[in-house]
Amino acid sequence: MKTPMRVAITGAAGQICYSLLFRIASGDMLGKDQPVILQLLEITPAMKVLEAVAMELNDCAFPLLKDIITTDDPQVAFKDANVALMVGAKPRGPGMERADLLTDNGRIFSVLGKTINDVADKNIRICVVGNPANTNAYILGKNAPDLNQRNITALTRLDHNRAIFQIADKTGKDMADVKKMTIWGNHSTTQVPDIAHANINGDSAAAMVDAEWANNEFMPTVAKRGAAVIAARGSSSAASAANGIIDHVHDWVLGTNEGDWVSMAVPSDGSYGIEEGLIYSFPVVCKDGDYEIVQGVECSDFIKGKMKESEAELQDERNTCSDLF
Ligand code: NAD
Ligand code: LMR
Repeated sequence: MKTPMRVAITGAAGQICYSLLFRIASGDMLGKDQPVILQLLEITPAMKVLEAVAMELNDCAFPLLKDIITTDDPQVAFKDANVALMVGAKPRGPGMERADLLTDNGRIFSVLGKTINDVADKNIRICVVGNPANTNAYILGKNAPDLNQRNITALTRLDHNRAIFQIADKTGKDMADVKKMTIWGNHSTTQVPDIAHANINGDSAAAMVDAEWANNEFMPTVAKRGAAVIAARGSSSAASAANGIIDHVHDWVLGTNEGDWVSMAVPSDGSYGIEEGLIYSFPVVCKDGDYEIVQGVECSDFIKGKMKESEAELQDERNTCSDLF
């Protein structure tokens, strides 16, 4: 039996976590042979609901679930944590952009960043989900200087999965056969869903669709899918977001499939001319518990221009919250 991994999760009584926690406890995220201890953080008024979530988790009798800690104290939630899923934050409503949440949510990531720095495993793998996810991850990293900064990431896997569905739906092919999709940039409407290198059973996906669809339908549909879900549901995506988190951490820890890559927002190392340190979505390959940004992906001038726009948006977001780091 492996040693249990400690997974700290914030916003544990919220919508996303009601899908997420059960899948982690069943082994979908870290593997069917990896025991887990869930360290669940909520704000004090949500503790009663959190207790109910813990009751339901217990009532599933998951063999891999070794303990559940419920708390409103971040020091307890992040103690010795190996993985942190930073979900707890306000969601946007209809008519809002994700960046409108920065004033309310940014502060959460500055405060929790300091605590993680103090009490968690220094090599903790962090996936920031609360919006605006990339800039919240940036804020967290600046407040947690002792952590391995490579391991502070944000979620764009939901966008990646949305793009795979759109391509499969358009071409009539199987989603499982769509490989090497790329999301560049910010988890916002400036994100760049790039079909150019995607393939379906080895054949170019871009060659199966026309450029008009790729540029004027596919890209905006993927980039605005979050708003479309909010308009239809009245609240933001939850089960698909939870699934994106599972995929993000699963592949990071257990590796990406041979011949494929995935999209993760990670601290830029200057690849593709993107300012070092910004949390920017790149194509990555994961192996041995680590990720590498895929190098040498050729981009058209159109895509390069869009990538720069998304970088500029991230620089703006960062500049508006410099009081938080
Ligand atoms: P929700 O309102 O249902 O749940 C959020 C939970 O966080 C609440 O229970 C709240 O009490 C808790 N919380 C608030 N502040 C906290 C703090 N300081 N510490 C711990 N917990 C705290 O929202 P949700 O639908 O679960 O969404 C959560 C966040 O995820 C939102 O910001 C949303 O926009 C974002 N989101 C991101 C993606 C993505 O792809 N990156 C996808 C979907 C949603
Ligand atoms: C999403 O992409 O569904 C989330 O970021 C929620 C939102 O506000 O769009």
